[in-house]
Amino acid sequence: MSTALASQTAIISGGLGDIGRAIARELASQGADIALCDLRPPADAEPFLSELRALGQRARYDVVDVSDASAMRAWVREVESALGVPTLIIPNAAQVTQADVRHLSAEQWRRELRVNLDGAFHLAQAGALRLVEHRKPGRIVFIGSWAAHRVHAHIPAYCVAKAGLRMLCQCMAVEFATHGILVNEVAPGIVDAGLSGRIMDGNDALRDSVRALTPVNTLVQPDDVAQAVAFLCAPNNRQMTGSVILQDGGLSLLTPKP
Ligand SMILES: NC(=O)c1ccc[n+]([C@@H]2O[C@H](COP(=O)([O-])OP(=O)(O)OC[C@H]3O[C@@H](n4cnc5c(N)ncnc54)[C@H](O)[C@@H]3O)[C@@H](O)[C@H]2O)c1
Repeated sequence: MSTALASQTAIISGGLGDIGRAIARELASQGADIALCDLRPPADAEPFLSELRALGQRARYDVVDVSDASAMRAWVREVESALGVPTLIIPNAAQVTQADVRHLSAEQWRRELRVNLDGAFHLAQAGALRLVEHRKPGRIVFIGSWAAHRVHAHIPAYCVAKAGLRMLCQCMAVEFATHGILVNEVAPGIVDAGLSGRIMDGNDALRDSVRALTPVNTLVQPDDVAQAVAFLCAPNNRQMTGSVILQDGGLSLLTPKP
């Protein structure tokens, strides 16, 4: 087992989702203590917390809605008291509403932006301010999406939120660089789990056609995302900031056939 991230505390929103769990496992396996939040009741987190503790790390779970700025600030402080100042900050929570612009309600639009963009901002801001206060270096890794880079007309609110995240990442990279805080993004393509996995579940024909469309002919796995996050969190990453690791198997390079 690696100890590359020993003495670090990772804080991950949406930590009970498929990608959130994979990130938590990877960072714990490299020696980081782990704090997770999600919307599900604490009992749902217990088996996973045991798994993380079996890796030799401290782990905790709290029910926190990322769209609530003051709850997010309070959570970051609670984690700090329990596990130490979070040094690896991973805004990961998101939802997706499948509705094109004609059918998207104002409330759906607001909720998507509140969770996917505001929620990521609340965690990143609260975490960065604690690092500055303690004069500690750290890493922020946003979980974006290739949807920020290409139009997906059936999920416009999701695309807009992820495009906003891209610019937030760059703004924060500049603002916090002199504090030793590097801010980056991992942008997965179509993952065979989580938000898109659930859409493909029970529809093997859809899964096969999506895979066939992807130049590398494989779908992204949660562990691919987790390893990219760990790379950006590693102490030997000293220069990458404001960057995005796009993991879409070449999908966004394609030009639609006429
Ligand atoms: N699955 C994909 O194909 C894919 C592709 C690109 C990017 N992503 C991104 O990966 C990240 C993780 O998604 P996933 O695919 O693992 O989905 P997931 O649904 O398995 O995980 C998302 C988690 O976020 C939690 N969550 C939702 N709203 C929340 C809120 N208001 N407060 C706290 N937690 C909340 C959910 O309960 C869930 O556990 C997201 O940022 C998503 O946009 C996923």
